[in-house]
Amino acid sequence: MKTIIEPFRIKVVEPIKLTTRQQREDALLAAGLNVFSLRAEDVLIDLLTDSGTGAMSSEQWAGVMRGDESYAGATSFFRFYDRVHELTGFEHVLPTHQGRASERILFEVLVRDGMVVPNNNHFDTTRANVEHSGGEAVDLVIDEGRDPKSQHPLKGNMSIERLEQLFERVGPDRIPLVMLTVTNNSGGGQPVSMENIRAVRAVCDKYKKPFFLDACRFAENAYFIKLREEGYQDRTVSEIVREMFSLVDGATISAKKDGLVNIGGLLLFRSADLAGEA
Ligand SMILES: Cc1ncc(COP(=O)(O)O)c(C=O)c1O
Repeated sequence: MKTIIEPFRIKVVEPIKLTTRQQREDALLAAGLNVFSLRAEDVLIDLLTDSGTGAMSSEQWAGVMRGDESYAGATSFFRFYDRVHELTGFEHVLPTHQGRASERILFEVLVRDGMVVPNNNHFDTTRANVEHSGGEAVDLVIDEGRDPKSQHPLKGNMSIERLEQLFERVGPDRIPLVMLTVTNNSGGGQPVSMENIRAVRAVCDKYKKPFFLDACRFAENAYFIKLREEGYQDRTVSEIVREMFSLVDGATISAKKDGLVNIGGLLLFRSADLAGEA
């Protein structure tokens, strides 16, 4: 169904502080021109992230009230588990407070000093967590992904040639996993094709390495695949999402984007052993 209006009512408003250009310039200078050192209340339009740009539905807020706070075996966990399992197909579902926590846990399990982690583009928290575990974060997005003028329809793709070269250069022992960020947020939120996900899978199979998605925009990436990739026009977004997840061994997710919640994250695994360690 297509609508020209948003098919929902907005019931909550939160006032924001209106600042003058001079106040914003002063705040930026006081922060040493580092947007991470600004106070959020001084920011009129926040373009640092796509987090927190959604709003929860009345049903989601009602879910907070219906939440089962039992010390163990809470019904709410099983509702959450069933939904995530249905959406992604993963057996092992660990809830975290944010995407960055999922990354921290994953890399503590897999990354050691001197290791190298390839990604199309690491998000800033992902890069920081790789480095915190002693690894080096390497970005391998295709050339079109670095060219703002390029009209390539799926410019979040990873260069398979560069991924192969990296394996040859540093050796498989130093690469503990391969990651792909969908959509590629640090590269302008550009989508990754299913063909590219499959090609990265093939390289991971060749070197017997786990393959993880940083999947906070899993739904948007699937929608772009539907719109732009040959052969997907008649598939539903949820079918495409399932296919994307079926090609990988796990995922870190910030649920604050396509998860449409105010705060939250996920760490997903196919392997019981890795999930156990995490
Ligand atoms: C691609 C990507 N990965 C990870 C994160 C980190 O998620 P969080 O802010 O929930 O820790 C973000 C958040 O903006 C993101 O865009």
